[in-house]
Order: sequence, then structure tokens, then C-alpha cells
Amino acid sequence: MASFVILNLLGSYKNTNKVETMNVAAIFFCLVATFGHVYLEEQLDGKVAVVTGGAKGIGYAIGDNFLEYGTKTVVIVDKNRLRGLKAEKDLNCKHGANRTVFIYGDITKDLDRVSKQIFQKFRYVNILVNNAGILDEYDPKKTIETNAMGTVLWADRFYNCMRKDRGGRGGTIINIASISAYMSDPFLYFYKASKFAVLGLTLGMGHEYNYLFTGVRMFAICPGATRTDMTRQEVTTVEEQREVFEKFSKTLKYQSPDNVGKAAVLLYWTATTGTAYTVQDGQPPIVSPDRVNITMEAILNVIHQ
Ligand SMILES: NC(=O)c1ccc[n+]([C@@H]2O[C@H](COP(=O)([O-])OP(=O)(O)OC[C@H]3O[C@@H](n4cnc5c(N)ncnc54)[C@H](O)[C@@H]3O)[C@@H](O)[C@H]2O)c1
Repeated sequence: MASFVILNLLGSYKNTNKVETMNVAAIFFCLVATFGHVYLEEQLDGKVAVVTGGAKGIGYAIGDNFLEYGTKTVVIVDKNRLRGLKAEKDLNCKHGANRTVFIYGDITKDLDRVSKQIFQKFRYVNILVNNAGILDEYDPKKTIETNAMGTVLWADRFYNCMRKDRGGRGGTIINIASISAYMSDPFLYFYKASKFAVLGLTLGMGHEYNYLFTGVRMFAICPGATRTDMTRQEVTTVEEQREVFEKFSKTLKYQSPDNVGKAAVLLYWTATTGTAYTVQDGQPPIVSPDRVNITMEAILNVIHQ
């Protein structure tokens, strides 16, 4: 029932007082999704957020929604220069001049240069969204380097600058994992390996014990199938699974990137450190399950459909 209310609020907030409605939604979300440890973080107002891979897709939607709900500046780091410049222009048109800054960079190569540039310009960063990622089952090395190592090293760099016990002001790191991070199905296993790593990092580094002395909150968002370039282009999977994977993909419900963007705002207000939240099927976030087993029977059912 309460989830239904949140869904309606999320669906209708565009026509109403945005911040008030989102606040009500956030309170409902607290009650429904996170029994126990609930933080109501301060607002996004005046904050500086860095979004890796924010030139398009889910990262762009997160930047867009952060700006909509008061974030002072969103820094987009992306290796796609054309899309990055376009995102900067579009978001500045929509939300006001100089609120979005694009910095060209490959997260697997340019951490030193880009982070130095960011900290020189802003001194303090309040939020890092580790979103840049790829899906390429033909290139397991690049998959691990981008999704797993990229996330780990960027988290490490920003965590150390944010931590209160080392002179920082605290902050929030949001890691974009995937429902693949807890599903046991036979598909996309290199991608799955990389996202399990993202979840592991979040549960450990984001553990409440660490938060107590660092003041750095870390949580993960696990999106389900989302309509972006990543899923629009043919999803690469190992040759022998192509047919069955195509059938399996057809059973998925695709949501808009904006649904993940809105969820990121709600979660910024409400999420507990060291926790993963699933956002799928266009629904509001829920706490992720530890594991979902896709049985042989379920796979065979899909094959024989
Ligand atoms: N689309 C989905 O169904 C889905 C589901 C679950 C999780 N995710 C995750 O969400 C995140 C965003 O995916 P998306 O669907 O928006 O993909 P997308 O391909 O639309 O966007 C990804 C962005 O990341 C950038 N990027 C990739 N590698 C980079 C690198 N090394 N350095 C800098 N930028 C880089 C790309 O240039 C692009 O702008 C990824 O981590 C992905 O794994 C996506």
C-alpha cells in the first residue's frame, strides 16, 4: 500500500511542489524500505556532485535529477567527449549556467589528472556517483578494469579526501551496481563478476563501523533492465548462449533512466550506509535481496516458450 503511495507520488511530483512531494515520498520510503537504521541526510542544496559516465544514460539522469533537487554543481566525467559537451550544454540550459561542468576523462586511466582538477576547482566534493560502466562479455579484462577497478580506485581516492578523520567533511559515495550483482543466472558472467565486486566494496567500505569515524556514507544502487545505449545495442554474450539469452531478455521489463535518477535523489535522502537498493521495472527503490537464484526450471521454461 505504502509503496503504491510512493509510486503515485513519484509519478505525480512533476506537477506539484517537487521538494515537498519528494520529502513525503522519502519519509514513506524510510518506513517501507529501511526498518531500523535510517538517516535522513541533509538536502542536496549547495552540494558538489561528481558523476562518472554522466554524459548519457543512467549517469546523465542522475545528474539531471540531482540538479533538479538543488545540487549546486554536477561534474560529469566521461570518455565520450562529444556526448559530455552536449550533456554540459543541455543541463546548463535546463538548470542554469555553470551548474554542470564536463571534464573529459577515462576512469581507467585519468584518475590522477581528473581528481586533481576537481579538487583544485572545488576543494570539497560532497558526492561521488561511481556510474561509468560497460557491458562487453567479449572483453573480460576491460570489463573488470572499468566496472570493478574503476569503481574501487575512484571510491578510494574520494573516500580519502572526504573522510572526517583525515581533515575532510564527510560525504556520500553512490556505486551503481546492477541486479546482476546478486542474481545467479547463467548469463553475462564477466559483467556479473565486476558488479559483485562493486557490491562487495559497498558492503565493506560502506560498513557502519567505517562510517562512524569517516563520516563517509556509501551505498549501492542495483538497477534492473534500463533503456540506455548499453541495452539498446546488441548485448554481447557468449556465442552459445545468444539464442537463449535473447529469449530471456524478452522477459525483462525495461525502465527509463529517469526512474533511476529519481531513485538516486530519494536514496540520497534516506539510504543507509553499506546497503544496496534495487531499482527496477519503473518502481521506487527497495532494499536488495542478498541473492536471487534463477533455477534450471525457470531457464528451461524460457527456452521452451
Ligand atoms: N542499462 C541497464 O540496463 C543497466 C542495468 C544495471 C546497471 N547498469 C549500470 O549503470 C551504469 C550506467 O550504464 P548505462 O546503461 O547508462 O550505460 P551507457 O552506455 O548509456 O552510459 C555509460 C556512460 O559511461 C561512460 N563510460 C564508459 N566507460 C568509461 C570510462 N572508462 N571512463 C569514463 N566514462 C566511461 C560512457 O562513455 C557513457 O557515457 C553502468 O555502470 C551499468 O553497468 C545499467
